[in-house]
Amino acid sequence: MNPVPITRPIVVAANRLPVMRTADGWAPSPGGLVRALLPMLRDTGGTWVGWTGNPDDEAEPFVVEGVELHPVPISEEEIELYYEGFSNDGLWPLYHDALRESTYSADQWDAYVAVNERFATTLAEIAPPDAMVWIHDYQLQLVPKMLRERRDDVTIGFFLHIPFPPYELFSRLPWRTEIVEGLLGCDLLGFQRPMGTSNFIAAAQQLLHVDAHHDVIENADHRTRVGAFPISIDVDDVEAMAAGRATRQRMSQIRARLGDPEVILLGVDRLDYTKGIGLRLKAFAALLESGQLDPERHVMVQVATPTREAVEHYQDERHQIERLVGEINGRYSRIGLPVIHYLYQSLPFDELIALYRAGDVMLVTPFRDGMNLVAKEYAAAHIDGDGVLVLSEFAGAADELTDAVLVNPHDDEALQQAIMTAVEMHRHERRKRMEGLRNQIRKSDVQGWADRFLGVMDASAN
Ligand code: G6P
Repeated sequence: MNPVPITRPIVVAANRLPVMRTADGWAPSPGGLVRALLPMLRDTGGTWVGWTGNPDDEAEPFVVEGVELHPVPISEEEIELYYEGFSNDGLWPLYHDALRESTYSADQWDAYVAVNERFATTLAEIAPPDAMVWIHDYQLQLVPKMLRERRDDVTIGFFLHIPFPPYELFSRLPWRTEIVEGLLGCDLLGFQRPMGTSNFIAAAQQLLHVDAHHDVIENADHRTRVGAFPISIDVDDVEAMAAGRATRQRMSQIRARLGDPEVILLGVDRLDYTKGIGLRLKAFAALLESGQLDPERHVMVQVATPTREAVEHYQDERHQIERLVGEINGRYSRIGLPVIHYLYQSLPFDELIALYRAGDVMLVTPFRDGMNLVAKEYAAAHIDGDGVLVLSEFAGAADELTDAVLVNPHDDEALQQAIMTAVEMHRHERRKRMEGLRNQIRKSDVQGWADRFLGVMDASAN
């Protein structure tokens, strides 16, 4: 059944606008969030409220790909306290299994409140009457309540792109009650996985003693519907780009440049400690050491997109990865033919698609990940019906992509085994699994995700 098309005006708020200001002009913002949201807004003709990535940027509203962008200025000090501090040194590690120690500081919290207030005020000013306002991700969890206090005519939705942690972890947060109250300001609250939904309900019950019936939470006189809405990608766009002549040519060129190996193993991640890049490199090295992989036949490409470089955990992670790459290349490379090709760069999307097509085995092995859209992009790009995806059970994508070689990345033996299973997989089996992956992704693309979320949001208005 196709959902009823939404005719109400749509306003999206996310920390980042889809483009960021760089020294050379505007460039696409990093991460899967913006890649997923832009096609949706392009189709619905909405407005996007967010930050340009530059300090104190008072840019006037402008239009990109038919979407009106409304910049929200964030000062130098707020970047440090709200973005690098509370969001990415506090919430991010806590929400990802507490893989690193979080910092909790009152100054950072105050900046988080102030920036969330600025977003709420901007939204209250620009949202047309009766609009649907859809707020995104952990940087803006207080906005739903703040906006509801300013505008009671709009319908408010919130989608969390990252995991919502179990109460045992969430309860460490000194401002846990304020965060839950903030989120309960919405009419619809969406998570990537059912686990996120149940973790949130448990937190709301513990902290606010709310009533929860199935998928509706009642707090005071307001009702919030909650549920899982696994995000996806623009499948048509990826397929069209993958099918282009330029991509095919680039793919052959990449293979040749890598020395025409039998198997190209590929990793594409933001350089984040949640992504398990180091563990993957170690598994690759162990297989070279044991002779199961051969540097003359098996080559790895690891793209690590720079991200949050001012945060210490990211600097440490980068040093560790780069040391490992150096060690492994030092030991197994030949002149002119490194065994790991490491790019600490943000690549244009067409180059990524060519790399996906060139990759025979894609390694997506995070310790914890909300969804991981790279896994979906890889399968969508493999229009040749070949290629194997090795996927961590701890990525949200594992719920749907059951034709991947699923693995627990905390278990090194299992990870090595999964890599070998993928490398040695018979062509027939590879094609069968890839067909399963591609069918699954085609069934639930980003447009379907947005339609479903907006449809339920429209029906959940208080
Ligand atoms: C993840 C988060 C997004 C974030 C993106 C890039 O996908 O869920 O909210 O925008 O990473 O990170 P950055 O800190 O550069 O915005």
